[in-house]
Amino acid sequence: MNKESLIGLMRPKTIAIVGASTTPGKIGYTVLKNLLASNYEGKIYPINPAADEILGLKVYPTISDVPDSIDAAVIVVPAKMVIQMADECGKKGVKGLIVITSGFSEVGRRDLEEELVTTSHRYGMRVLGPNIVGNLSNSEKLNASFAPFLPLPGKATLISQSGALLIAIDAATYTRRVGFDRLVSIGNMSDVDFADLVEFLDDDPNTSCITLYIEGFKDGRRFIEAARKSRKPIIALKAGVSAHGAAAAASHTGSLAGAAKVYGAAFQQGGVIQATDLDNLFDRTLALSLQPPMTGDNLLIITNGGGVGVLATDAGERYDLPLKFAPADVQAELKKHMPEFGSAKNPVDLTGMAGTDWYNASVKFSYAHEWVDGLVVLYCETAMTDPMEIAQGIHQALVDSGVTGKPVTVSFVGGEKSEAAMTWLVEHGIPAYPAPDLAVNAMAALREFSRLKATLTESDSSTALVNRAAALEVIAKARAEGRGALTEIEAKQVFSFYGLPITITKLAKTEEEAVQLAKEIGFPIVMKIVSPEILHKSDAGGVKVNIKDENAVREAFRTIWENALKYKPDANVHGIAIQEMAPWGTEVILGSVNDPTFGPTMMFGLGGIFVEVLKDVTFRVAPVGTGQALRMLGEIRGAPILAGVRGEAPRDRQVMAETINAYSAMIVDLADEISESDANPVLLYEEGKGVKVVDARIILKKK
Ligand code: ACO
Repeated sequence: MNKESLIGLMRPKTIAIVGASTTPGKIGYTVLKNLLASNYEGKIYPINPAADEILGLKVYPTISDVPDSIDAAVIVVPAKMVIQMADECGKKGVKGLIVITSGFSEVGRRDLEEELVTTSHRYGMRVLGPNIVGNLSNSEKLNASFAPFLPLPGKATLISQSGALLIAIDAATYTRRVGFDRLVSIGNMSDVDFADLVEFLDDDPNTSCITLYIEGFKDGRRFIEAARKSRKPIIALKAGVSAHGAAAAASHTGSLAGAAKVYGAAFQQGGVIQATDLDNLFDRTLALSLQPPMTGDNLLIITNGGGVGVLATDAGERYDLPLKFAPADVQAELKKHMPEFGSAKNPVDLTGMAGTDWYNASVKFSYAHEWVDGLVVLYCETAMTDPMEIAQGIHQALVDSGVTGKPVTVSFVGGEKSEAAMTWLVEHGIPAYPAPDLAVNAMAALREFSRLKATLTESDSSTALVNRAAALEVIAKARAEGRGALTEIEAKQVFSFYGLPITITKLAKTEEEAVQLAKEIGFPIVMKIVSPEILHKSDAGGVKVNIKDENAVREAFRTIWENALKYKPDANVHGIAIQEMAPWGTEVILGSVNDPTFGPTMMFGLGGIFVEVLKDVTFRVAPVGTGQALRMLGEIRGAPILAGVRGEAPRDRQVMAETINAYSAMIVDLADEISESDANPVLLYEEGKGVKVVDARIILKKK
């Protein structure tokens, strides 16, 4: 359904409260009281068959008795009555339902929830909830909820999957000085979900930043798409990132793909900024809702205290916004507004002697200078200065600079006077924080927004050299034999059908065949056991490398076979794979999982000990364009190894990125078949020499 279908819910001109109660303290009474208290300007129609009047309003026995059209109906009757109420609302032509009632999928009643949605959609009605607190908006003067009051007015909108947290945030907006226009509770997301609201809010003139508290998506891909298209910053706090899927994983990639990693990848692909915790969500929301993005890397810090300047510098390093020395002309001008012993390098230390004049002059000059992409102003409360005067001076200096569209954040460290000054700053559109690292972190969020948006234009996947039919044939054969995984040889065949460069690998059933194939491929060769029951070949003594002649082939053939049967006496041994021995290169790992929320998802990392011990891997939801793939190469901790360390030539990153691209196309194309997969190791050679997949594993989806 299109975003216009949400107008009834989000900008209702008339509201009915189905289940409006005569009893103070009941939710049906509180919602009505809240609507009145929020000075809602539309018409309110309480519905209750047993009452005539509540809180001075005329009550109607049923919704069909209301002599007006209804945009939104708040449902506050017990779960067993909700479907009937939805049907009556539908017949009345209501546009959207705000279903506060609990007792649906959260307690196992998925059937009831589905019926609610089908009934509502039959009449073209949208459903917010069920199991929600309600819907609040300052600009609409709408508190259609049982949260106590509207939040501190501002330009952020919170969408929360937790009702209790929404109520807590509502109150905290006042103590934390973070203003919101809307607080939307989405509960079970039976119909309206994050993606719907992100699309709607993109056109909402009163929202400048979209803040999300997420426990899980229903359709992760739809969210990524909606987020990618959003012109406004989106910041997310994802809860529940600890244990996810890892236990049952059959592949390396599966065991590494925790929710934190996969959601992190999805957020990056949607251009969504992440918050580390609730404090961080508030702090970053404040900056994102009040300030423009930071479009370059040059951050200038102005301070009256060396200590807070150093703390801010450390934070810059930590949050990927390292400080650079200011250019000579900037330093020369700033030197005029500080004592001899000040520093104009960056951080610019005006010293403890700084009063409003020095602050004003340096802020005005720096903010207007083209080298400066973002400004952080720090202030330590001193006996000679008045925090409010400093705050008002900073604001005036910014106005006097004549510049707009450049971000600024502030930190005042001190007591009550500093607190009051920061409240004044926030009221005047300048995000202010009680610690210097918080001001830098907020600036980093503004930088991240602009960096993320720049990556979203990168190319999507292309599917060159696809032989889907051949791949499906290999998979069908394995399924026909009752297998849930492909052998290495089969997996490599599938890989090769999608253009992945694999080592030549052939199956020998007898010792004679092994000798023959080894001669054809050329020594030295590698020999590996091929058995569906033996996935961890090395553990079974099933791998021999660097086999140089015929005698060694014969010996290896017998040893591998014996080892395999010792390891698993009932193993069905298909034979022994004879493989070309690829020259050694940098070991990397590629892999995939079919994530329950995001579908086929790609992993890249350094192989061997790096993946085993350090878990130095990164993820993207597939397909992954080569641009994004190059970013994956750049964001692992071992990235310098790929760039060439200690005089070694750089690795062939371009071909590696193209290989990730092809692999990702394969897992999308075969999403119905592949549950998990690994190419491990993949050998990555120096520039111009490409890559080789040496070992392969594909676990099939259960059907
Ligand atoms: N049409 C309209 N009103 C009706 C009808 C009808 N056909 N039939 C009965 N009513 C009236 C009732 O008479 C009652 O009014 P009264 O108090 O004047 O008699 C009113 O509707 C409410 O009905 P009750 O049966 O009293 O229901 P109650 O208020 O006990 O509970 C509620 C309803 C609040 C929806 C409850 O079922 C519920 O789901 N509570 C949990 C809600 C919740 O917490 N949601 C958010 C979760 S997020 C978080 O955790 C914060």
